[in-house]
Amino acid sequence: MTRAESRCGLNAAVSTGSGKYAVGSMFAGIGGICLAFRNAGAEMVWANEIDADACKTYRGHFGPKYLEEGDVRNVNAQSVPPLDILTAGFPCQAFSVAGYRKGFEDDRGILFFQIIRIIEAKSPRVVFIENVKNLVKHDGGRTFECVCKCLRDCGYIIDHRVFNTKEYGNIPQNRERVYIVAFKNEKDLKNFSWPEPIRLEKTVASITHPGVKAEDCFYYTEESQYHPMLDKDVRNKETVYQLRRTYVRENKNNVCPTLTANMGGGGHNVPLIRDDYGVRKLTPEECLRLQGFPGDFNFAPAVRSSGRYKQAGNSVSVPVVQRIAERILKALEGADTHADRKDSR
Ligand SMILES: C[S@@+](CC[C@H](N)C(=O)[O-])C[C@H]1O[C@@H](n2cnc3c(N)ncnc32)[C@H](O)[C@@H]1O
Repeated sequence: MTRAESRCGLNAAVSTGSGKYAVGSMFAGIGGICLAFRNAGAEMVWANEIDADACKTYRGHFGPKYLEEGDVRNVNAQSVPPLDILTAGFPCQAFSVAGYRKGFEDDRGILFFQIIRIIEAKSPRVVFIENVKNLVKHDGGRTFECVCKCLRDCGYIIDHRVFNTKEYGNIPQNRERVYIVAFKNEKDLKNFSWPEPIRLEKTVASITHPGVKAEDCFYYTEESQYHPMLDKDVRNKETVYQLRRTYVRENKNNVCPTLTANMGGGGHNVPLIRDDYGVRKLTPEECLRLQGFPGDFNFAPAVRSSGRYKQAGNSVSVPVVQRIAERILKALEGADTHADRKDSR
């Protein structure tokens, strides 16, 4: 019996997956990384998330069994089940160009050290981390070097790549993120390779369906002070626009700009499109699809519109993470199969 098989939670209302490798997720949000690893064939056995609304959406899809709701700083590491893989998309604001640029001085940045605490306690075979691209360059590279050093000090060998969702996920979103893999065993790393770029075939219109009317609340009406400008400048049904204070920005490459958590803060942070019925904001559900979540993944009914936008913007591009997760599992399988063969000689 594998570690994963020995876990409870297999009877969750919604399947947690039943793979050979057990995965835990810190800063789980609504479960973008979890979904990707589960789709790749791993089994989710533990997750932690502080935001009550995100937890509601998470449980709606993954069931109620293993998600630990609360501040990660209060997690008792001993109560975390054995893990083959630990994943963490830790809060990125402290490292983002758009954020405060304070890195580890910022309280949210310090949350990174919680990852180290769980690693030290559980010693997973692989650690997978996702963050904003700027993590690599932040503070002249010192922040990233600190992240890598902490992982090395725990005995891991590290590799990383910056991938753009539009190039690696077949999703029309411009989203550059750094993906870090850390392996405990050199042979696992040797078996691992990063995915190659793939052709972007999905269009924005294939997600927004310009011929289908959205709910009225998403449209700009003539009462809006921005209506004349938007009506004049938002013309192309194939592309996505952003409202700035005095002008409209067209994303000429026909992909959606990076979706961010501050879409939930109101104002003009939600990208715009024109459809057959007028100029409107992307809906929160469209934002989920633009992150690559499947059509049957939805927000918990209790979550309001602002919370939905925040959840979508905070999450990850599922297909990109899934492609990396598949490579990680293949690397582990390869190493295990090789070891089995040796053992049976
Ligand atoms: C960038 S999002 C992660 C998205 C997620 N990895 C996914 O796959 O969709 C960061 C998450 O960390 C959570 N978070 C922030 N501070 C936390 C804390 N102290 N304890 C636990 N979770 C926290 C936030 O609520 C947010 O959902």
